[in-house]
Amino acid sequence: MRPVKLLPSLLSSDFANLESDIRKCESAGVDMLHVDVMDGHFVPNITIGPLIVDAIRPKTELPLDVHLMISDPDKYIPAFAEAGADSISAHVEATAHLHRTLQLISSFDKQAGVAVNPVTPLESIFDAAEYCDFILLMSVNPGFGGQKFISSFLKRCERLRTFLDDNGLEHVAIEVDGGVKVNNIAEIANAGAEWIVSGSGLFGGDLNENVQLMRKECAQG
Ligand code: DX5
Ligand code: ZN
Repeated sequence: MRPVKLLPSLLSSDFANLESDIRKCESAGVDMLHVDVMDGHFVPNITIGPLIVDAIRPKTELPLDVHLMISDPDKYIPAFAEAGADSISAHVEATAHLHRTLQLISSFDKQAGVAVNPVTPLESIFDAAEYCDFILLMSVNPGFGGQKFISSFLKRCERLRTFLDDNGLEHVAIEVDGGVKVNNIAEIANAGAEWIVSGSGLFGGDLNENVQLMRKECAQG
């Protein structure tokens, strides 16, 4: 198993008390914060924009991982990069020119990732992998927190890890997003996921306790 990083999805935080929820994430010892950007077009929900990333940035040292679930991502990547994102992913289904999109993210010295919906063929991103620092495999359909984990993720994740390792891309991380809980995180980590996002699984109940339980599950393998 590769070392796991835990990323709470702020989508499940209390937006009226965002700073206090970020402090809770820090004291629980998470590794990064996951920021879900939705435009009401690529996905049927609207969430946050660069202004919020800009507001959060001075409040924490934790890296900000910005997941763009928006059409025409190239138009907004500069704004998110300048607002202080550390890593940015755009969906393969949302850009006609994936290579250009990834190069654009990298040009701001940010970690670049491609996000992939649950049944989009992995082949559609194989040729892009060498331009990525990470690949975000969705394990729910993007748009909402609190959905059920789609179990075919596990096979896809193993297949992608094998592809990356066989092609000299061991350094490219796999990120998993959607439906991760204490009771399935071990099998997800065993399948090769390293950046593990959880929203309702961490913010539902006691965040600190959930972080420790997830870490324990991963350590036991
Ligand atoms: C879904 C988002 C996820 C979501 C995860 O569109 O990209 O990051 O917030 O939430 P849970 O862990 O509750 O499925
Ligand atoms: Zn996300």
